[in-house]
Amino acid sequence: MDSAEESLDPESWSELRELGHRMVDDMFDYLAGLRDRPVWQPMPDELRGRLRQPPPDEPEGAQRVYADFRTLVLPYVTGNAHPRFWGWVCGQGSGMAMLAEMLAGAVNSSVDGFDDAGTQVEAQVIEWCKTILGYRDEATGILLSGGSMANFVGLAVARNNCDAVAAKRSGLSGAPPLTVYASAETHSSVQKSVQLLGLGTEALRKIPVDERHRVRLPALAAAIETDRAAGRVPLCIVGNAGTVNTGAIDDLDGLADIAEREGVWFHVDGAFGACAAISATLRPRLAGLERADSLAFDLHKWMYFPYEAGCTLVRSDAEHRAAFQYDAPYMAPAERGLAAARNQQFTEYGPQLSRGFRALKIWMGLKEQGVDKFRRLIEQNVRQAAYLAELVTAAPDLELLAPVELNVVCLRYCGTGGLGDDQLNDINRELLSRLQESGTVVPSHTVLDGRFALRAAITNHRSRREDFELFVEEVRKVGAGLIAELRG
Ligand SMILES: Cc1ncc(COP(=O)(O)O)c(C=O)c1O
Repeated sequence: MDSAEESLDPESWSELRELGHRMVDDMFDYLAGLRDRPVWQPMPDELRGRLRQPPPDEPEGAQRVYADFRTLVLPYVTGNAHPRFWGWVCGQGSGMAMLAEMLAGAVNSSVDGFDDAGTQVEAQVIEWCKTILGYRDEATGILLSGGSMANFVGLAVARNNCDAVAAKRSGLSGAPPLTVYASAETHSSVQKSVQLLGLGTEALRKIPVDERHRVRLPALAAAIETDRAAGRVPLCIVGNAGTVNTGAIDDLDGLADIAEREGVWFHVDGAFGACAAISATLRPRLAGLERADSLAFDLHKWMYFPYEAGCTLVRSDAEHRAAFQYDAPYMAPAERGLAAARNQQFTEYGPQLSRGFRALKIWMGLKEQGVDKFRRLIEQNVRQAAYLAELVTAAPDLELLAPVELNVVCLRYCGTGGLGDDQLNDINRELLSRLQESGTVVPSHTVLDGRFALRAAITNHRSRREDFELFVEEVRKVGAGLIAELRG
């Protein structure tokens, strides 16, 4: 044996094993004690400096690295695992999913389409997603990093299957301009996808919305007509199943009808809202979802799984595969062995070749808890959003800024009157920073009709009613303090 040969394995597994046990214990303590920690706190400058070091040429050792994690990382994470985090649209993860991530790390499979368990598990998860969302039986799907990539894949399938252009073979130069239609409330990831797919920002038609922030169908139909008359090729309509700002749900059936009539692809961005379809009571609000030609959603938002876990479902294997299939002799499926062709080739369903074993945490998490638990949690979040809206409406110094369609509540502190929008925007901007810096609650923000809003997207399985009561109390207390400061 060549004594100079090395590996990354430790000389003694027992020491690392012991450290691993401690990490697991510490992380369970962390999860069990989340409620008593600040939701978020900024990292002191001195510690930030310790994360601007040159790469370590020499070993620091496992114990020291873990000590650094405890000092530099753990106290200053985003905080989205906390029961009072409702900013942006985040999930919390769970104990089982955390362990599953560890198991996935141990086997370190790349789920490309090998004849292995990873491929079977992901295929199983995709089938489950179709079933619980009530999406088409014949659909295919793929797990992705998140909603942004899921939208990208849906739009890429639309573009690469568009007969009017041979985008996959010849690119877009010389082809008639393609156009994409989505409400003005559509998430920025759709804009990014349009840009990345070479269509250009100007190809995205932002259609106005109604008072409930849903796309106006007549305006959409008129935009398509205008584009056709100008020689453009309408490629795709994007519907929203839960907009990022307010949780608005477009008339998906109405959009599907227009898409069918016009012969254009119908993609639904259901990043979080699509997950409401797993509840029989909420599903009617998403009527038409099943008619999407492609559907993007996230399991790391309203299914509470750890990052990263997005998914795209596509109506047919042929179209899905046509969008990403390629020729490479070193990747051609074999008759037998690890590369046997009998598996789903995930590498032909999306842009990635090497892919992490994302499916394991989802498979284990769904089996551990059962889908009914997720149904109940989603319904619980919807009830909590309605409760928060009630609290806001009942408070004379708070204002609800948008109808609560699902699980997103937008509000502002307005004092006892006499303040204009500009002043209120300044007050609420400052109020939000103070709330976050206090570590008590973390909502995020948006702007609705020029009004700065505190925004709570309730995709949190750890929140309780009392957390929303505290939220409202804090907004009123900090808001009143700000007005007092203003009046000197
Ligand atoms: C409606 C909507 N679409 C797409 C996305 C992008 O998803 P991701 O952050 O997982 O890429 C989000 C993120 O919040 C969203 O709310």
